[in-house]
Amino acid sequence: MLLIKSLTKYFSKNTPHQVLALHNFNLKVKKGDFITIIGSNGAGKSTLLNLIAGTLLPDYGEIRLDGEMITYQPEYKRAYWIGRVFQNPLLGTAPYMSIEENLALSLKREKRGLRKGINQEMREYFRQRLSELGLGLEKDLNKKAGLLSGGERQAMTMLMATMFKPKVLLLDEHTAALDPESSKKILKITEELVEERKNDLITLMVTHNMKQALEVGNRTIMMDRGQNIFDIQGEERNKIDVNFLLQQFSKLRNQEYIEDRLVLD
Ligand SMILES: Nc1ncnc2c1ncn2[C@@H]1O[C@H](COP(=O)(O)OP(=O)(O)OP(=O)(O)O)[C@@H](O)[C@H]1O
Ligand SMILES: [Mg+2]
Repeated sequence: MLLIKSLTKYFSKNTPHQVLALHNFNLKVKKGDFITIIGSNGAGKSTLLNLIAGTLLPDYGEIRLDGEMITYQPEYKRAYWIGRVFQNPLLGTAPYMSIEENLALSLKREKRGLRKGINQEMREYFRQRLSELGLGLEKDLNKKAGLLSGGERQAMTMLMATMFKPKVLLLDEHTAALDPESSKKILKITEELVEERKNDLITLMVTHNMKQALEVGNRTIMMDRGQNIFDIQGEERNKIDVNFLLQQFSKLRNQEYIEDRLVLD
């Protein structure tokens, strides 16, 4: 269980540029939940994920995972149980390292620093896992990650973010920088990798695509001005569509839902 209570985060506190990025944010997530998060620009989505990962520390509030208070636990410690994939495909893999070296690095997280070279057994495992992605990456384990396409790198990052069996998976618009075809593939891979561990993984996925938000996962929350303003799951969620979400936003906030990408799309 991931429990977030009254989480509050300011940027540039006590200056004229003060921003209240997260405001008394509450969320209770049970194991196996796959939550999609939507919300306009600046709603606080990335800030929330950064606070869970420990990249940022809150001003107020608490985060508990399986009963353990982790609100101020350093980021490197949380890396043992958090897998992350960002929007930028360049961030997830080390470009000058080979595919197998990248994957081995990820496995080390599970083994907590075990320093062992890459052996034949590991290679076989990598080949098998890569072939499941369906992109042919298993054919050359020595290829440098920097030579892969954005979609291929993001697929590898997805694998690396789940292979060490984290408790929490954080995805921040991880398909947004890809072409539509690759984006679809990565989403499919995401669903498969999450499904594999569905009973003991918590997944939070930020997306700007409202349709996608309702199709993937089992629960959707809408954020606005640092708060969780709408939370829907189960049967109720199956019944709604994008229009309903937009109407819900207007009703709750008494204004239209405005977002760069909605306008641009
Ligand atoms: N490092 C920072 N310094 C100052 N302000 C920040 C910083 N990071 C975020 N903010 C501000 O905090 C608010 C929330 O930002 P956040 O990045 O969490 O939004 P978001 O929901 O992820 O938006 P987007 O959809 O554009 O990615 C915004 O007003 C943003 O400008
Ligand atoms: Mg963001």
